[in-house]
Amino acid sequence: MSLHVTRTLPEDATGAALRADVVDGLTRTPKSLPPKWFYDTRGSELFELITDLPEYYPTRAEREILRDRSGEIAAASSARTLVELGSGSSEKTRHLIDALTSLEAYVPVDVSESALLGAGQALAAERPDLAVHALIADFTAPLELPDTPGPRLVAFLGGTIGNLLPEERAEFLSAVRGLLAPGDALLLGTDLVKDERVLRLAYDDVAGITAAFNKNVLSVLDRELGADFDLDAFDHVAVWDARHEWIEMRLRSRTAQTVKLPGVNMVVDFAAGEDLRTEVSAKFRPEGVTAELAAAGLELTHWWTDAKERFALSLSVAR
Ligand code: SAH
Ligand code: AVI
Repeated sequence: MSLHVTRTLPEDATGAALRADVVDGLTRTPKSLPPKWFYDTRGSELFELITDLPEYYPTRAEREILRDRSGEIAAASSARTLVELGSGSSEKTRHLIDALTSLEAYVPVDVSESALLGAGQALAAERPDLAVHALIADFTAPLELPDTPGPRLVAFLGGTIGNLLPEERAEFLSAVRGLLAPGDALLLGTDLVKDERVLRLAYDDVAGITAAFNKNVLSVLDRELGADFDLDAFDHVAVWDARHEWIEMRLRSRTAQTVKLPGVNMVVDFAAGEDLRTEVSAKFRPEGVTAELAAAGLELTHWWTDAKERFALSLSVAR
């Protein structure tokens, strides 16, 4: 069994990055926090529960594409190394790993140590022939990939690209383009624009799991920064923003309240009904994906959807 773990993030989440994001986000109008701070151990568990919810279709739709199309993806890429950004449980990725017959190395990259280690250990045990290099890293920061054989296939699944703002997406795609050598490819999962009600329900499930996931970011701040957020003092809200074509997840303050965050020496006031934006989840159209890839120097070569055309996987190469 071969599992190597490399950490490029601080040992605990009280690192400079969390403090900087909290100071920046909570002094903005409107207030916001980046979604990467959802994913402590509990947050990663809650995300896995979300993927099984009847309302949350993206995981099932993408799994269907991977189940049906991994052979074609493998034939188009012939990858010997699979790099996966924001890999989480790596559950759907198994279809791809099994189809890539020349695969020698798998490089999952994630900020969630618990998700990464769980997935990495299971895979390394099952596939002793595969070198698993788990990278605890922020995929929006410059990435140093291990020296594994090419060609490389870089996978970014789940629609996680939609959790980046448009400027962040452009920067991210250019950085990915910079990682690709001739013969390498990017496999990108994008959730597609659809009926607003279906979208809103996917982010506001009846069982309240998405609400718990959303509020978990406050638990992270309470634990890591000694903050005194009361989770019951906020409501989970999911709004469809038709102009940007994204779902916005927010936490709405039930009352006027003051929150202390000793870890960043801050005291933050919330008005009654004031929103804290915790995530955007952009939904895409084929022409938008093609254009964003092209702007980053990438050429879309393949496009696959599930039968109901809810979700797309695209393959692109450096131009
Ligand atoms: N790809 C998986 C998981 C999606 S959830 C799937 O499709 O089911 C999003 C994953 O991205 C989580 O595991 C989270 O920890 C990770 N993540 C979010 N922001 C990140 C960042 N900036 N850098 C690295 N990983 C990140
Ligand atoms: C990880 N990402 C693609 C999920 C999404 O659908 O935007 C995160 C999520 N947020 C709420 N539910 C799921």
